[in-house]
Amino acid sequence: MLRIIRWTSLSIAVVLVAAWVVVWLTGAGAQRNDLSPAGVSGGVGVGGPFSLTDQSGRPVTDQTYSGRWMLVYFGYTSCPDVCPTELQDLSATLDKLGPDSVRIVPLFVTLDPQRDTPGVLADYTKLFDDRLVGLTGTPDQVAAVAAAYRVYFAKVANKDANGKEASGYQVDHSSFLYLMGPDGRFRGLFRPGTSPQELAEAIRERMSAAS
Ligand code: NI
Repeated sequence: MLRIIRWTSLSIAVVLVAAWVVVWLTGAGAQRNDLSPAGVSGGVGVGGPFSLTDQSGRPVTDQTYSGRWMLVYFGYTSCPDVCPTELQDLSATLDKLGPDSVRIVPLFVTLDPQRDTPGVLADYTKLFDDRLVGLTGTPDQVAAVAAAYRVYFAKVANKDANGKEASGYQVDHSSFLYLMGPDGRFRGLFRPGTSPQELAEAIRERMSAAS
């Protein structure tokens, strides 16, 4: 009986995740057959204006980075696994891009503004790459930029050994990497786990197509 319940909840979870992916892709206006092996999508309607604060406490907007390519990743500093891996890959991608990397501003936008203050972000981003810019804001500002980029995120309370709510929380979130052009428009979407080599090649391709 317990096994049946477990399988049922697993199936429900799978269906929910599948439904979310479909909603996400439709919502992003991405054409599903437009996803190349490198995980790049030619979809539109992703991104837009934002108002946030950088890791030095300076207020910034999308206009601050106008004229440069943006590589945008959403996560949070206490993330146990996916964020650190993706940020390491992002740093390795910039290295692979060599001189072209100066045309890109890599942005790490926190989905946990309550804990991720500018100071926390400053300490965290430099663990990965000095070029990485950490962005935070009010909960409303963060919710707005996440919505503009079609980022899924949800606060989940920690559980103790008995499954009861414990102190603290984690943030479930989608882990795509977004490439935005110097005009601020969406140029590509990369799945988590895309290798730095693939990322660098795809970015270079987009850059030469644009110039
Ligand atoms: Ni994460």
